[in-house]
Amino acid sequence: MKDSKEFYEGMGLKFLEPQNQTEGIREYMELEEEFILKTFNGINTVLDVGCGEGRYLRKLAPIVGKITGIDFSEQLVGLAKKSTSNVNNVTIIFGSAEHLPTLVEETFTYGLLAWNTIGNIPQTLHQCILDNLAKVVEKKIFISTYQCSSAVMDERLRYYDKTNFKVESIDGNQVILEGGLHCANAYPLSYFQTLLESSGFSMETHDLGFVGVMIEGTKK
Ligand SMILES: C[S@@+](CC[C@H](N)C(=O)[O-])C[C@H]1O[C@@H](n2cnc3c(N)ncnc32)[C@H](O)[C@@H]1O
Repeated sequence: MKDSKEFYEGMGLKFLEPQNQTEGIREYMELEEEFILKTFNGINTVLDVGCGEGRYLRKLAPIVGKITGIDFSEQLVGLAKKSTSNVNNVTIIFGSAEHLPTLVEETFTYGLLAWNTIGNIPQTLHQCILDNLAKVVEKKIFISTYQCSSAVMDERLRYYDKTNFKVESIDGNQVILEGGLHCANAYPLSYFQTLLESSGFSMETHDLGFVGVMIEGTKK
């Protein structure tokens, strides 16, 4: 699986346009936001991995001590910086999650990978990224992702259709879009259980409608 860097330097923002959301995707996004705002309220320091154009940096800055975003898309980092330029508790780093320990000096109370960022990252990097998070996060990580079912796949395909992204192929829970520029994958919960356990986190899950799930990893 290829990473989605080129895609997020260009057309990726179409994913955020509300008119492209199907009912199930809208419900997932609303429940995700509600969960994150409630759970992160009053948390001292937060790391938002794959922060994109800064959606959660803007929403969380007023209710947490400090928040740091990291993203490997120069375009999105630029937008995130611009939209938080008047906020003094936000730091934004241009870089890849797989290099995290060399990019940050401090540790964070909570880490976040929102809106299926994990499903956009090649599977071969997951263990490295989870091991990095175990080094830089003190208490908990939260990973929001798609559930795996045929109903969710149908909903995702309707969503890609509304965004006008061309589906090249489907392989299990992975959808390859736009000539391979973007791969969006989903994994069964048993996969995350093994991944988190091997990086030293225990796992709990919270459904986000029928489409999404929030995986809560607590450092052991
Ligand atoms: C689905 S978007 C989510 C954006 C944002 N978290 C939100 O909820 O609006 C995934 C983001 O992860 C970033 N990303 C993907 N792989 C990455 C990596 N290896 N390191 C850093 N950022 C990455 C992409 O550039 C993109 O902004």
